[in-house]
Amino acid sequence: MNASPLQPAQGSAQTLYGGITNRRITVRDIAAAKQRGERWAMLTAYDALTAGVFDEAGIPVLLVGDSAGNCHLGYENTVPVTMDQMVMLSAAVVRGSKRALVVGDMPFGSYQESPGQAMHNAARLMKEAGVGAVKLEGGERSARSIELLVEAGIPVMAHIGLTPQSVHALGGYPVQGRGDEAAHQLLRDAKAVQQAGAFAVVLEAVPAELAAQVTEQLAIPTVGIGAGAGTDAQVLVWTDMAGMTAGRVPKFVKQYANLRSVLGEAAKEFAAEVGAGTFPAAEHTFK
Ligand code: KIV
Repeated sequence: MNASPLQPAQGSAQTLYGGITNRRITVRDIAAAKQRGERWAMLTAYDALTAGVFDEAGIPVLLVGDSAGNCHLGYENTVPVTMDQMVMLSAAVVRGSKRALVVGDMPFGSYQESPGQAMHNAARLMKEAGVGAVKLEGGERSARSIELLVEAGIPVMAHIGLTPQSVHALGGYPVQGRGDEAAHQLLRDAKAVQQAGAFAVVLEAVPAELAAQVTEQLAIPTVGIGAGAGTDAQVLVWTDMAGMTAGRVPKFVKQYANLRSVLGEAAKEFAAEVGAGTFPAAEHTFK
């Protein structure tokens, strides 16, 4: 019943950046990228507008993360996010993009009960939202569900290391894989999801050296977040990456812009001009 890692499609020697322009990227393109050593970037997106911006920028994989809970919907963490919300957000990201592989996250409580429950909800993300793959948390503990989904034709991205849906059990967001036993468990988890047929695996908040070791030992790509530079791909939450997040961001985040301040300044200027009566001006007015 074990699925083998995906083989790249015949003749798909096109790079993820710039090479493929007339169709959506698939998990076979991702497998081919690992074979030729191409590193790639994944960003989260939660709506059609930002999905369109990142798609035009050439980001090959968009993750509709359940980080929508704290980054988009105003919850404290990802735990309250529902399947209906993930379907709605994922459908918007699919509509807003043309080229990226869209990966829909399975929220807390939507797959842990049984492989059958995982199948039911993953099928919803594919049929109702149109995603090209789903993501779920857990290594060995999720392997049976991953196998079932992959056998049914649903590409699965796994997520190990720090799994934010377990925030209450973990007591926060601690770095994972420190110490011999934890490192061995991470490696076992990585091999279990590969053996189950996952096309890629997110490694969150693990020491860089361990993430590099896992990457070397896997045939499928690793996608790091807080896992150092030795993974095949990197993912960031878009609101962190673009400087939209209020307050402190985790150590592993690099802010490539300061959109929160740009938008705030624009809003203040608009309000000031309305107050002063200088907006709308003649050029914004119908005659
Ligand atoms: O939900 C999310 O955004 C994620 C990424 C941080 C990998 O799971």
